[in-house]
Amino acid sequence: MDLTELRGKFIAAVAGAPDEAALEEVRLSALGKKGEISALMATLGKMDPDARKAAGAALNVVKDEIDAALRAKKAGLADAALNERLKSEWLDVTLPGRPRPRGTIHPVSQVMEELTAIFADMGFSVAEGPQVESDWYNFDALNIPPEHPARQEHDTFFMHRDAEDPRPPHVLRTHTSPVQIRAMTEQGAPIRVIAPGRVYRMDMDQTHTPMFHQVEGLAIDRDISMANLKWTLEEFCRAFFEVDKVELRFRASHFPFTEPSAEVDIRYSNVGGQLRIGEGDKWMEILGSGMVHPKVLAAAGVDPNEWQGFAFGMGIDRIAMLKYGIPDLRAFFEGDLRWLRHYGFAALDMPDLPGGLSR
Ligand code: DAH
Repeated sequence: MDLTELRGKFIAAVAGAPDEAALEEVRLSALGKKGEISALMATLGKMDPDARKAAGAALNVVKDEIDAALRAKKAGLADAALNERLKSEWLDVTLPGRPRPRGTIHPVSQVMEELTAIFADMGFSVAEGPQVESDWYNFDALNIPPEHPARQEHDTFFMHRDAEDPRPPHVLRTHTSPVQIRAMTEQGAPIRVIAPGRVYRMDMDQTHTPMFHQVEGLAIDRDISMANLKWTLEEFCRAFFEVDKVELRFRASHFPFTEPSAEVDIRYSNVGGQLRIGEGDKWMEILGSGMVHPKVLAAAGVDPNEWQGFAFGMGIDRIAMLKYGIPDLRAFFEGDLRWLRHYGFAALDMPDLPGGLSR
């Protein structure tokens, strides 16, 4: 028996073990019950006392050395495994956190989504028309002939044309009403549409901007009346302002494209800058409306002897200011990021009726 050789063999095997399983194999083959060192230990019993003493001591030294090598290797393998894991699960805690998206939805866009959801629920679909509009759609078809004072009242922006340009005169549309004509011409009657969008007038003060937003409403069928108009508007305001009690005031008015015509105000209070809908002694005009004039139906190819209905045009910016308590209209269009962060809406909150309009 060459103990030095045996020791060398096991120390080398320990050093070469690639993982803990291989190391356990080495341990068993040396120090396990059936291991070579253990087998040598078993032979000691048959020796005479002096030989046993010498051999036993030498064998114990080798056994302890192998045992120590096994432990050291085992600790080394565990360290290596841990390092490996740490490398793959590495996390840089010094990285800055991910910020919430900076952009917000503009209150006008939010309100357009809200009112579209409400009117869609009442069976209205969305119609569109161009912002650069021919003066026929913007005025003539709506029963506003060239010499009519309303043309001046609207403070129209006219598109420049050279004298010899054969195209009809165009304007920046002064209201969304021309979309009534376009929608009826395209779809005929019966029809139920809303048309939200931008409109333009030369006007600028605390409550007026040269560009603002309206939503047009149009419902034409065989027996639609002012009563249907009233119900529709009240129902809309209840849903939009998210209050049970809303009070509307219909004032007789005049528009060339409706007969009869009414302007509609909503009751509100202003307590220390806090606007409340449905209470108080203040009224804000939010829309014009009426029964569509027979001439307007005829201009759009709809037979006024067969069809009738209501139309309305509502100021979107106005109702946005009322609902969200925004004091100055001009700030809507200044693009001030601080204003947008304050009054804007989270990008993923799409308003819908079951989920709630404004969260
Ligand atoms: N077009 C009108 C305006 O801008 C608003 C309006 C009034 C629209 C009565 C309508 C209506 O559809 O019936 O002042």
